[in-house]
Amino acid sequence: MALRTITETRAYARPDSRSAKLWERAQGVLPGGNSRTTVYMAPRPIYAAEGEGCWIIDVDGDRRLDLLNNYTALIHGHAHPAVTEAATRRLARGSAFPLPTAEEIDLAALIVDRLDGVDQVRFANSGSEAVMMAIKAARGFTGRPKIAKFEGAYHGSYDWAEVSLGSGPDEWGPLEAPASIPYSKGTPASVLEDVVVLPFNRTELAVARIEREAKNLAAVLIDPMPNRVGLIPARADFLRAIREVTAVHGICLIFDEVISFRLGYHGAQGVFGIRPDLTSLGKIIGGGFPVGAVGGRADVMAVFDPRGGKPLVPHGGTFNANPVTMAAGLAAMQLMDEKAFDRLDEVGGKLRSGVQACLERAGVPGAVTGMGSLFRLHPAERAFVDYRSGVASEAERARLDRLYRKLIDHGILLAPTGLGCLSTAVGEAEIEYFLEVLNACIHNGDSA
Ligand SMILES: Cc1ncc(COP(=O)(O)O)c(C=O)c1O
Repeated sequence: MALRTITETRAYARPDSRSAKLWERAQGVLPGGNSRTTVYMAPRPIYAAEGEGCWIIDVDGDRRLDLLNNYTALIHGHAHPAVTEAATRRLARGSAFPLPTAEEIDLAALIVDRLDGVDQVRFANSGSEAVMMAIKAARGFTGRPKIAKFEGAYHGSYDWAEVSLGSGPDEWGPLEAPASIPYSKGTPASVLEDVVVLPFNRTELAVARIEREAKNLAAVLIDPMPNRVGLIPARADFLRAIREVTAVHGICLIFDEVISFRLGYHGAQGVFGIRPDLTSLGKIIGGGFPVGAVGGRADVMAVFDPRGGKPLVPHGGTFNANPVTMAAGLAAMQLMDEKAFDRLDEVGGKLRSGVQACLERAGVPGAVTGMGSLFRLHPAERAFVDYRSGVASEAERARLDRLYRKLIDHGILLAPTGLGCLSTAVGEAEIEYFLEVLNACIHNGDSA
């Protein structure tokens, strides 16, 4: 039985819609009317009014099933009562102090308890900062200047972490030594010189390049299932080889688990059985509030230790470990026991196989990647192995864009790239509803 009948959710598109009016005002005071590049949608975005579990209601009153969860940050969807209660209780007693609070210890203890590679934690305000601090810790610990990262992988907006993001065939160079391509205009050449780009899931090529650069490498930064690479899981032997070569050469292995902590109670490192030296976290650990964290081996984390004067790597931040985030994050994470992760895995598996079946039935080219609560629709059917195999052609991108817009106009919110994820608020009925809408949209003429 379908959850609701498929209806049009297009009130935002009217020229006199509330979204249209907000957009008009926004353009005067925000560049391009926008504060977050990711949420721009041409010709103008849809403004959110409120969220309730796995539903978002926009300012024109349309409801959509939220399968994006603020780009994977909300593990319980919107306004979960326990998280709301924890945050408001803390907020009523003050939201920020020039003194530490007990809440940061509680959330740190939970993370240390769950993640094998984390003996100690420091909090920040975003995943970008978490990655930045992990890189700085690795540099401080090893005394080496360079880092290596994987081609196409997204790790936030720190200059070094942005290198090679979104590079195209005309610039990306040979697979054995991918070029260091700037993402933002103005990236200094010195940044590019200090970032070695590696091919994802290509064990021999990646290991050989790490070995060539080893003496200058402070860190290898890896997301074990990088979304921008296509949400393709790393192969187990590949990860083991990266762990081995980094250990041999005294290079810090940084796991970016800003998204992938979603994959299990013990994070992606638990799922893949790898113990990194440093882990960057964000998104779900903040219970819907801005957050980041870097954790790792105690001897590496000692670079932040302020006892005895200036640390090797000083780390300030006016809102680091702010108690509202800490309280909300703790409430959200405490609800995520092993059973809750198992249930997410099960629902995620049903969604992915349902999407696959839907594509096959329709006989249109498309694929779905991902694991656990994460999935990504691809507008093509081929072997997705690394960044280069995941890059869509212009025609494929256009097809995906048409599907994304059809879904938006019929009550479903995904990312324009095809990325989606579940929250604990999503049940079988919502999956059925999604598959029904997807089926209808595909049969209306567009593949994934
Ligand atoms: C893997 C990964 N690392 C880091 C970040 C940056 O996190 P934030 O947006 O909180 O700065 C993101 C954001 O999507 C991410 O996906």
